[in-house]
Amino acid sequence: MSRITPQNETPEMLSALLPGKGGRFVQAEIERYEPRRVVTHGVGGRDGMELRLSRSIVGKPEADAVSRVLLDDGYLGMGNEVRLFEEELAAFFGVEPWQVIAVNTGTAALHLAVEAVVARCGRIGGKAEVLVPSLTFVASFQAVSAAGCVPVACDALPETGTLDLRDAEKRLTGNTVAVMPVDYASNPWRLDDVYDFARRKGLRVVEDAAHAFGCSHRGRKIGSFGDMVCFSFDGIKNITCGEGGCIVAFDRQAAAAASDARLLSVEQDAVRRFAGERSWNPDVKRQGYRCHMSNIMAAIGRVQLSRLKTEFAPARRRLAALYARCLAHVPCVALLQSDPEDFIVPHILPVRISDGRKDRVKAALAAAGIPTGTHYKPNHLLSFFRAGPLPATERLYAELVTLPLHPGLSDGDVKTVCDALARAARV
Ligand SMILES: Cc1ncc(COP(=O)(O)O)c(C=O)c1O
Repeated sequence: MSRITPQNETPEMLSALLPGKGGRFVQAEIERYEPRRVVTHGVGGRDGMELRLSRSIVGKPEADAVSRVLLDDGYLGMGNEVRLFEEELAAFFGVEPWQVIAVNTGTAALHLAVEAVVARCGRIGGKAEVLVPSLTFVASFQAVSAAGCVPVACDALPETGTLDLRDAEKRLTGNTVAVMPVDYASNPWRLDDVYDFARRKGLRVVEDAAHAFGCSHRGRKIGSFGDMVCFSFDGIKNITCGEGGCIVAFDRQAAAAASDARLLSVEQDAVRRFAGERSWNPDVKRQGYRCHMSNIMAAIGRVQLSRLKTEFAPARRRLAALYARCLAHVPCVALLQSDPEDFIVPHILPVRISDGRKDRVKAALAAAGIPTGTHYKPNHLLSFFRAGPLPATERLYAELVTLPLHPGLSDGDVKTVCDALARAARV
């Protein structure tokens, strides 16, 4: 059964309620992000189901696309569908098709991107180091260490949860080769400053843009500029392939290295597969991995990409704006900051609960049937990556509670969450 979630936003409402009302490009983007109803195909919202923290919104169009691959084409691995997805992503970002490298997870995108840039950093004494904010999914840290580097945990800015550059600068050593900013909660906060910092210090930038598909920074789309920009298309991201990810590379050699590395470093294997051929007489010159994208994943991703501007982005932005309005005057609850020049399509909605009330609030919401999350337990507190202390990150961690957000929620769902939160925060 198809369920339609009512939508009533206008571009004016969006721009008035959420950051993103300033820049020229941003305004143009809002106009192009033409809101339509989110078709949830019976899997969204509450309708007889529990209210979820996040979920995939997929349905008949995605099922039809998968059927086409299974039944018409019958080529399930990496082929034409992946080529088309890469081309469509390139058009979306406004880059050349060679710059987009589709892989099977966002973690693989980060791993291959780090490895590709580190291989080109020349000789250093000891292990290469990458500066990473501790407040991120463990995937960022694991990707750096999988690439044979040391992830150096850095502190967060309390107002946004993003990388504190002043702290990162203190952690520079002769072995630092790269910095990995994380667009935490889809917020590309002061990303230009990170790129300037990297330029001044001679570092490569592997941007963890797992949360930031569809966002823009000061008028430029995330993925349209940078060095190595990595996205995730896992089940609950702004668009999904089921699982998946991509790198957008701005350096031909690093792009070629990452493209080969996803196919066991069989040279030019992707190019041959896209031409319907295979590499029967290959050469392999370096370590490679088996982490390419399949035609099945790409078929889902292509449909999801076509739904972003009309369904997913407007719905996520409208719901986040509604949260902002409903929580504006709730004591002890604060939203994270964002830059009015940035355009944010929020993947998650973390808020800060002050005065030591976080656990009580989480328990009260759980009792009311409202799930919450924690994004994230800082990586420097995990056994494998233990470091620290990082005071701002730890203070923020003590306050962060993630509220439900996905395009299948209704305005009523958001109001239910906010009412329960307001009650819980007052106790
Ligand atoms: C900040 C961050 N980085 C990296 C990843 C890894 O992406 P994937 O799950 O596609 O491997 C995620 C996914 O949740 C993420 O949230």
